Amino acid sequence: MTPDRRQFFTTAGLAALAVGTGALTGCGGDSSSGQGGATLTVPASTIPVGGGRILDNANFVVTQPEAGVFKAFNKMCTHQGCPVSDIVGADVHCRCHGSRFSIVDGAVTQGPATKPLRAAKAVLEGTDVIVSA
Ligand code: FES
Repeated sequence: MTPDRRQFFTTAGLAALAVGTGALTGCGGDSSSGQGGATLTVPASTIPVGGGRILDNANFVVTQPEAGVFKAFNKMCTHQGCPVSDIVGADVHCRCHGSRFSIVDGAVTQGPATKPLRAAKAVLEGTDVIVSA
């Protein structure tokens, strides 16, 4: 490898690292209206007990199956990748083909999906839920 090519790849690697670092630190505060970064802060009061909320501008569904217990999932349906559309009762629905998933653990409650929603982390800190992939 010539020095020019080596320098290019080193520079490209640093640029990729910078982008990744920005994604990790770029989302703070009430980011329920922010882009889908690595960490989001969502006011706990906006997540209904026995239901949940599909974040508009982030890749997560945040649920509260019982008071004070928060769960988060990637909002992309595991069937063919549509974003889930609604939360009705204890199920997260995908309108594309009718799959449903439990708000408790993301398990499939109705196909055609066969795999659960991908779990994310949800941690209650004070009055906020901190959500991360
Ligand atoms: S993509 Fe969700 S049911 Fe098909």
